[in-house]
Amino acid sequence: MIAGLQDVVKRYGNLQALDHVSFDINEGEIVGLLGPNGAGKTTAIRALAGLIGTDSGEITLFGEKQDVNNIRLKQYIGLVTQEVTVFEELTAEENLRFFGGLYGVKGDTLKQRVKEILDFVGLSEYAKKSPGKFSGGMQRRLNIACALVHQPRFLIMDEPTVGIDPQSRNYILESVKRLAKQGTTVLYTSHYMEEVQAIASRIIIMDQGRVIAGGTLEELVGRIQHEETIRITVTDPSDNLTDSFGRIQGVKSVIQNGPEYIILSGAGAGNLNRILAVAQQSGKVSNISADKPTLEDVFLTLTGKKLRDEEENA
Ligand SMILES: Nc1ncnc2c1ncn2[C@@H]1O[C@H](COP(=O)(O)OP(=O)(O)OP(=O)(O)O)[C@@H](O)[C@H]1O
Ligand SMILES: [Mg+2]
Repeated sequence: MIAGLQDVVKRYGNLQALDHVSFDINEGEIVGLLGPNGAGKTTAIRALAGLIGTDSGEITLFGEKQDVNNIRLKQYIGLVTQEVTVFEELTAEENLRFFGGLYGVKGDTLKQRVKEILDFVGLSEYAKKSPGKFSGGMQRRLNIACALVHQPRFLIMDEPTVGIDPQSRNYILESVKRLAKQGTTVLYTSHYMEEVQAIASRIIIMDQGRVIAGGTLEELVGRIQHEETIRITVTDPSDNLTDSFGRIQGVKSVIQNGPEYIILSGAGAGNLNRILAVAQQSGKVSNISADKPTLEDVFLTLTGKKLRDEEENA
């Protein structure tokens, strides 16, 4: 374990922004942190990074106790904030030099790191340009770069891809995967399910200041449903076929609706193929579909909410 929150409480007046939050992050993991607006994601990140104090509980980072006065721990963390925090008056390169300098990176090392990191985020050509003129995606990439100049062991990203073009988004996701391969541990907050699904090795779901679920994608999805709904449309429907479907192992119910059969079946274990094979024995199949629960379904089931109050489209 390189980072952990243990029973952490953070209050703002009467509001418990963190209500006894506990989770661990292990070396080399990409952990996805999901939660609707106001769930406490940013608060958890700020506490983890030592930017805010907490009311109770304990935060451990690289074997040390984290708190706002532990300056030493800052060097291990790279924080990509929810809002882009680069200076528009400085060029991309100057921004990187500034942030690197804050962490004590100097001289030739700094020069070398700035060069490497601009290349890493695909902004080498824009080194001398002001981020004020950058697209949203480029600004986000620079924001990420600023958190990486000092080569942190632990990168914390708070919604780093909000409102950017798909190309930049892919670039960022690929960068995160490359970083993890190189040994950087990543905590990745996003409200884009597909992103978390694509990169996270483990997912933590928060709602109203609490951790309400955690695990791999498979574990989370498995938790809410062990069934899938298969819809199959055939050219020659019959009662016989209904019975045949019903005899397939794992099939829980069969509803015939004209040419369409709606079959509730245990997920996995090749049931879709078996159902298809049985259907094909008695004629042509014109349509088949299977609905598997997704992370979105897990989220909806657990929180009763969508991830965002209103859709924000990139
Ligand atoms: N400085 C603050 N003062 C008072 N209340 C705060 C403060 N920061 C956060 N809160 C409240 O704490 C709760 C958790 O906020 P937080 O920003 O951690 O949520 P979040 O999960 O990051 O949400 P979002 O997805 O909108 O970024 C919210 O109800 C928020 O209004
Ligand atoms: Mg937030």
